[in-house]
Amino acid sequence: MSTTETTGTSEPTDDVALFDVDHPAPVIEPPRARTAKTPKSTRGNFEMYGWLFMRLSGIVLVVLVLGHLLIQLVLDGGVSKVGFAFVAGRWASPFWQVWDLAMLWLAMLHGANGLRTVINDYAERDNTRFWLKWLLYAATVFTVLLGTLVIFTFDPNIR
Ligand code: HEM
Repeated sequence: MSTTETTGTSEPTDDVALFDVDHPAPVIEPPRARTAKTPKSTRGNFEMYGWLFMRLSGIVLVVLVLGHLLIQLVLDGGVSKVGFAFVAGRWASPFWQVWDLAMLWLAMLHGANGLRTVINDYAERDNTRFWLKWLLYAATVFTVLLGTLVIFTFDPNIR
């Protein structure tokens, strides 16, 4: 007796008739049929570009965020030096303006797209998903616009 053989009775089921040598797997009907009105492609590549964006923005963020932390918290006297005058000095340079702008945009878009994925994965009701994502997009647009405005309209002589 081979080791793969099992003992006991096995009732023949309906499945048995579905498979034979000529039909090794059952035919699965497509969930919807194409019609003349169906567009050529019903899918875009948005999620693929989103996946790529998370990886690329992550790599750039490592440099931007670690550089930021090093300068703010470690070099030149640590965090105690950070104040209005410090920020004014840094934003006088277009280099640091662009650095902070890139960090703001990439972190917000990366974080928002990541949270979009979390909401899609965990919020089960259509309504809950809709409103959570609406809140997320509103908060993201608000923060990105406000931050961008502050970086470019910052006035070191404000009284
Ligand atoms: C510092 C460098 C960072 C790197 C290298 C990085 C890398 C990544 C990568 C590769 C993913 C995709 C994971 C996946 O698809 O399974 C991801 C997801 C995510 N990231 Fe980042 N990230 C960084 C910073 C940030 C920052 C600053 C935020 C917040 C503003 C953030 C928030 C998120 C969120 C919410 C997700 C989704 C998590 C999930 O799907 O479970 N990340 N990150």
